[in-house]
Amino acid sequence: MLHAARTALTGLFVTTALVGGASGALAEEHSRGSASSAEVEIIAHRGASAYAPENTLPAVDLGADIRADYVEIDVQMSSDGELVVMHDTTLARTTDVETHYPDRAPWNVRDFTLEEIEALDAGSWFGAEFAGTGVPTLQQVLDTLRGRAGLLLEVKSPQLYPGIAEAIVAELDGEGWLQADSRAGRLVVQSFDWQFMEQFNELAPRVPAGLLGGPPSEAQMAELSAWADQINPSHTRVTSAFVDMVHRYGMETWPYTVNDADRMRQLIDLGVDGVITDRPDVLIEVVDEERGERQAA
Ligand code: G3P
Ligand code: CA
Repeated sequence: MLHAARTALTGLFVTTALVGGASGALAEEHSRGSASSAEVEIIAHRGASAYAPENTLPAVDLGADIRADYVEIDVQMSSDGELVVMHDTTLARTTDVETHYPDRAPWNVRDFTLEEIEALDAGSWFGAEFAGTGVPTLQQVLDTLRGRAGLLLEVKSPQLYPGIAEAIVAELDGEGWLQADSRAGRLVVQSFDWQFMEQFNELAPRVPAGLLGGPPSEAQMAELSAWADQINPSHTRVTSAFVDMVHRYGMETWPYTVNDADRMRQLIDLGVDGVITDRPDVLIEVVDEERGERQAA
């Protein structure tokens, strides 16, 4: 199991300048006074995206403040080759790009420079208190997470971005995320594109590799388990047989995206290794309850 250093954060409530007033209050509302020592990894999906705009620094910061083990983000590339954090391959849903650039439909991420992307508002669509929140770079997310939570980095639609694997590896390496202890639980890179992940693994073999989607057939598992570390399907596809198969091949599974406490309990009982959620505070409570029940039994 990949163990993040949440225990190292016990007692710390870090409210940085990046959080600002609005999400600083959210952090206090959702944080817990003591860190959970769960066996199940808690992964904040697109940051703590139930409470702050997805894939922005306030969401990432809040995920770390809540003490998720990992924060998940989606990484793409601007037209000038910079790594930016955005889920959709267009900027339309989560920014005001249509107002800024009405003549540039369909507003693909890859058609805008970093300077243009940084001028956008990626917070107002979520709530007025986040007005002016920008689209972050991968660099800014790494700076925000450092020493506070691990990173689950999804490479989104890598076929659109030639060279993105090399760019990500260079950035992670430059920031010290590829040092020998990366397998100790600070970083996982994942994608729905399994062929891309195999290539990424050749570039950065020490980084745990996650395969989104599936699940694969038993016949595929021997080949996949030779280089990949996780199979991360939709939680709706998770069965006891699937979890057993993954573990039999020495891999882990972190299903997505689970916001309902009862479903979290079911998945934990099935033996999943982590759960990806927009509501990491809810998952922490569920995990703590389950641990209490086990200790009482
Ligand atoms: O980390 C799993 C999850 O993020 C995959 O789906 O669409 O939210 O990127 P999506
Ligand atoms: Ca994602």
